[in-house]
Order: sequence, then C-alpha cells, then structure tokens
Amino acid sequence: MKIAIIGTGNLGLAIAKGIVAADNLKVERLYLTKRNTAALAYMAEAHSNVTVTSDNQAAILASDVVIFAVQPGQLSALLASLTPSLNAEQHTIISTITGKKIVDFENTLGSEFAIVRSMPNTAAAVGQSMTCMSGNDKAESKLSLAKEILATLGEVMIIEESLMQAATVVCASGIAFWMRLIRATTQGAIQLGFDAPEAQHMAVQTCLGAASLLQNGGAHPESEIDRVTTPKGCTIEGLNEMEHQGLSSALIKGLVTSFNKIDDIKKSS
Ligand SMILES: NC(=O)c1ccc[n+]([C@@H]2O[C@H](COP(=O)([O-])OP(=O)(O)OC[C@H]3O[C@@H](n4cnc5c(N)ncnc54)[C@H](OP(=O)(O)O)[C@@H]3O)[C@@H](O)[C@H]2O)c1
Repeated sequence: MKIAIIGTGNLGLAIAKGIVAADNLKVERLYLTKRNTAALAYMAEAHSNVTVTSDNQAAILASDVVIFAVQPGQLSALLASLTPSLNAEQHTIISTITGKKIVDFENTLGSEFAIVRSMPNTAAAVGQSMTCMSGNDKAESKLSLAKEILATLGEVMIIEESLMQAATVVCASGIAFWMRLIRATTQGAIQLGFDAPEAQHMAVQTCLGAASLLQNGGAHPESEIDRVTTPKGCTIEGLNEMEHQGLSSALIKGLVTSFNKIDDIKKSS
C-alpha cells in the first residue's frame, strides 16, 4: 500500500507517526507533503519508506490512498488543482478536514470516487485517537481499508455522516477540553501542597484510572461515583460544590457552543 498525506501539519504528522509505528500495516511508501518541507525532513531520515516532498501531484500519482489534512480554507483550491491527478480506479480518498462534507469532494472530483470522511484527534501520535469515520456508497468496499489505516491511530467508530460535526466536537475538540480539566486538577493539587510535576503525574494517572474503570468494566460513571462518595464524606461535598459552580453544565454548554461555531466557520469559508 502506498499512502500520501497531503498537508502534513499537526494532524497529518500525528497520522504519519501512527502509520509508521504500526506493525500490522504494510506501507510500502508514505508520502508526506507540505509546501515548506524542512520541518519534516527528520521523518524521511528516520524511516526508509517515508518520502517528504512539496510535490502533491507526484505523491498522489504514486499512491493508492490519499489523505487530505490541510486547513478547511485551503482545500477547494488545492483539490481543484489536483483533480487531474486523481482517478477513481486508483485512489481512495480519506479526508480529515473539519466541516468538509463528502459531497464537497464529490462536487469537485465526481461521485465515482470512494471518499471517506474521518475525524481523528491529536492522540493519534500516541496511538490513542478516537477516530470517527463515514464513507459514501462508492467507499463501501474501501471502508475496511480506511478503517485499517485509521485503526493504527487508536479506536475507530463508523458513524452516520450527519453526526460527524458532533463527533468533531466530542473527539477532536475534546482533547482540549480534557487537557483543561487535567490542568485544573493539577493546579488544585499544587495549591494543596504538591510540586508541579507530582501534581501533573497524579492528575494524569487518576484521569487514566477513571477512564480505564469505564473502558474495562463497562460501568456507568455514576455507579463508580457511588463507590467513592461516602455519605457526609469529603468527595460528595467537593463534587456537589463543583456542580453548584456549574461543572456539568459548563461542559455541556461548551460542547454545544463548539458545535454551533462549526456552522459559523462553514458559512464564512
Ligand atoms: N489538529 C487537530 O486536532 C485536528 C483534528 C481533527 C481534524 N483536524 C483537521 O485537520 C486539518 C489539519 O489540521 P492541522 O491542525 O494539522 O493544521 P495545520 O497544522 O495547519 O496543517 C496543515 C498543513 O497543510 C500544509 N499545506 C497547506 N497548503 C498546502 C498545499 N497546497 N500543499 C501541501 N501542503 C499544504 C501546511 O504546511 P505548509 O504551509 O508548509 O504547506 C500545514 O502543515 C484541518 O482541516 C483541521 O480542521 C485537525
């Protein structure tokens, strides 16, 4: 398999790192493109099957799978310029671009192309992405291939395309939301007497532990909360104070605000 990542910035690089770290995926060559390639040179030096280039057309012509990871505003001009190099027989298209629908690709390329819309997050760099994906009718036979590639980045869930905007907020923006929660826990721990590295270690491992209880045990969060909230105890007192201050409400409102902001971005792009 030969893969081209067109626009290897933050996310493209995270995907590239996931792909080169995957033992099960036999990638003959991975093309990484961007206009200024200097910052990517180390990827080609470290991996004999990686080519770094600013020549999108050459990368596409030599590949079976083309992953688009440029900014939303950069896509339409880029896609129009690359259309002559893309053909439906050879190429499976995977897009990671926020707010860009499958139909946006079909309008430029034609509906005969297999197009997969995906939404990974930056935890792809450490194999822990929560990636949602959906494909058009032509991509049905290519979904397992796309899933195989995206599964090198972490977990993959196939969803209806109509839910992709919501998935963007929960999973991609979600990285920032969880980082802020971990950061706030760290700041609280520092105030209570731990130095910064200790505080961060404790916050991160406790967060991982909480997530693992749900992932491995399949329990509901409230039943795990019941196990640590002694009546009249310190945990329920702190938890209730957080809710009086709007913890759950702030999170839900933040998710909905991010969701609505994507509509604004789409209108102005
Ligand atoms: N970051 C995330 O967490 C995340 C998660 C899910 C989805 N997304 C989506 O993924 C896309 C990329 O996000 P990002 O954060 O990785 O953005 P980014 O860091 O800005 O990466 C975009 C890259 O595209 C390159 N590029 C721009 N025009 C190009 C062209 N004509 N040919 C080749 N390369 C070109 C840029 O490099 P040069 O300027 O050197 O060309 C840049 O490195 C966005 O659409 C975003 O909505 C991001």
